[in-house]
Amino acid sequence: MSKKPKGQSMWGGRFSDKPSDIMQAINVSIGFDSRFAAQDIRGSQVHANMLAAQKIITKKDNASIQKGLKQIASEIEAGTFPFRDEYEDIHLNIEARLKEIIGDASGRLHTARSRNDQVATDFRLWVRDALDGFDAQFVKLQKVLLKQAEQNSDTLMPGFTHLQSAQPVTFGHHMLAYLEMFARDRARFADCRKRLNECPLGAAALAGTPYPIDRKATASGLGFERPLANSLDAVSARDFALEALSAASICATHLSRLAEEIVIWTSAQFNFVSLSDKFTTGSSIMPQKRNPDAAELVRAKVGRIVGASNALTIVMKGLPLAYSKDMQEDKEPVFDAFDALDLALAAMTGMIADLKPNKKVLAAAAGAAFSTATDLADWLVRELGMPFRDAHHVTGAIVAIAEKHGKALHELDLNDMKNIDKRITDGVYSVLSPKASVASRRSYGGTAPVNVRKQIRRWKSRLK
Ligand code: ARG
Repeated sequence: MSKKPKGQSMWGGRFSDKPSDIMQAINVSIGFDSRFAAQDIRGSQVHANMLAAQKIITKKDNASIQKGLKQIASEIEAGTFPFRDEYEDIHLNIEARLKEIIGDASGRLHTARSRNDQVATDFRLWVRDALDGFDAQFVKLQKVLLKQAEQNSDTLMPGFTHLQSAQPVTFGHHMLAYLEMFARDRARFADCRKRLNECPLGAAALAGTPYPIDRKATASGLGFERPLANSLDAVSARDFALEALSAASICATHLSRLAEEIVIWTSAQFNFVSLSDKFTTGSSIMPQKRNPDAAELVRAKVGRIVGASNALTIVMKGLPLAYSKDMQEDKEPVFDAFDALDLALAAMTGMIADLKPNKKVLAAAAGAAFSTATDLADWLVRELGMPFRDAHHVTGAIVAIAEKHGKALHELDLNDMKNIDKRITDGVYSVLSPKASVASRRSYGGTAPVNVRKQIRRWKSRLK
């Protein structure tokens, strides 16, 4: 066997000169793809076992490959594994180390595979693991939202449109709105996982391989549903990562909306809720301050997550089949976005768990700004048989009087209302309180406490 010259890389057979430092600098990816170490080892273990089962390598060589890979796994675990720039990426770093540990048998591991199917497999495994982690985090977040909903199924608060008081709702209903959103986010990730769960390994460089490999065995050994059916697609596809980033982007927008509400609600002007010391910070100059930094940062994370989604979309756009080195740029956006989402979900879960609604303030705000005007109009429709459009007009006139007298609707004299429409009776007062307003909204999905409690029961059994 010909020996390769000293100082040559794994692929340097046809090269007589070393790459320039700049070539090395732009080429090297071990600084970030070392995060694939566990996935790369898993892939190699399964691949080598398959090669031995198919008699493509000997049992003996496989045994020493397995032993070497095991040692590498424990070195990585212990933090003693030598990650070296000269070996470019995680795949070559592990192979180089394997050679140091077991010698020549290591050279058999790369039979019937390429770094192209190897990296595609590692990446799918990594994203799949991350999706599973998110799934567990969604459950935690949903559970704290559910608990807040349960404790506040009849806590009044103003509901807003245009951030103007609109109609009273309950705090529990508001929490359940987010629970629904995060449930859809969770479902989007689960859906993405299903589509992702096909195995590229065995596609080799791009065209498949002449060896009698068993792709079904490697796919199932790595927990994939099946092998990808087309070798060109197997090494080229990154839509699983794009899909995961899209789902992450949507989830980040949901988180940012809740975060924004927390920022607004904790301001002295609103004073709707209090955050705990654990999730707020002080100011270095203003001693009175309690800042909702965690909420603000969760609100901001959407920027880098959507940025990552854009970045990878643009990297992939226009790439011809099959592998191009451009695709080495696929990993960092995903790592960055997923790290950000991971932290944002954890911070939101912590904030919601400790959140204290200020019930008195919320109740007062719920009744302010003529928030039961719609209830008045509905009463006119129901009791006097008015068409809704007319009732809307009459109620508008009554609101104008209340505003002129500086009174809430339920504080108005009956005569003031009778002046607008003489058929109005004192029965109207029964619908003018925010409590009566929310209790009346029993239509499916409405804010009535009975509805909220029903939804809570449904979520409790679903999240068990
Ligand atoms: N580090 C490379 C990447 O992340 C691995 C695949 C390299 N393949 C190749 N043909 N050079 O994309």
